[in-house]
Amino acid sequence: MDYMILVNKQHPLPEGWEKELKTVTITNSFGYGVEAEKKTAEAYLRLKKALEEDGIRIDLDSGLRTVESQREIMVRFTEKYGAEYALKTVAPPGCSEHHTGLALDLYFRIEKADGTLEDVDENEESTKPEYDGLWAAIHARLAEFGFILRYQKGKESITGYDYEPWHIRYLDDAEAAKAIMAREGLTLEEWFVEKNGER
Ligand code: DAL
Ligand code: ZN
Repeated sequence: MDYMILVNKQHPLPEGWEKELKTVTITNSFGYGVEAEKKTAEAYLRLKKALEEDGIRIDLDSGLRTVESQREIMVRFTEKYGAEYALKTVAPPGCSEHHTGLALDLYFRIEKADGTLEDVDENEESTKPEYDGLWAAIHARLAEFGFILRYQKGKESITGYDYEPWHIRYLDDAEAAKAIMAREGLTLEEWFVEKNGER
């Protein structure tokens, strides 16, 4: 199992990946099961617990996706927002990091005045400037659990996607994750070039 795999528009999921993949399913606040690679899911649960101790509640919107489900997302986004937007926000089927089981989409839950919890799971809502601080607090804890923020602001030309504060990627290596997250805006693509030359 290569936790350092690079999957992007230029590097589709390698054949046979699923054969090695062990997954578990986590039930989110909506009662939906979200499947992810086993160590990724376990690290996520530790991250969730640590953030809870900071007073922040996160939950899981998406984990492992099949090529078919990615196709459905692409169709839905293209119909709803048009092709140009869809291509900047949804990976082409076969090229999504979600196929690896190592990528997770988070949402957060906020406490309302009446004490009940609200799920902020719509991207239009969760990317409002009022939540920038909350995302920053979440991002600040990612690396110690082996996660990085994958689609950085201002790096769309390298990653191929708009900024996504919710999409995190498990590396199974907290030291590598810390080294990447310590360099503001550094992408996994750039880090691999620095480490290994072009991939
Ligand atoms: N939203 C990311 C790019 C994906 O569809 O995999
Ligand atoms: Zn994602």
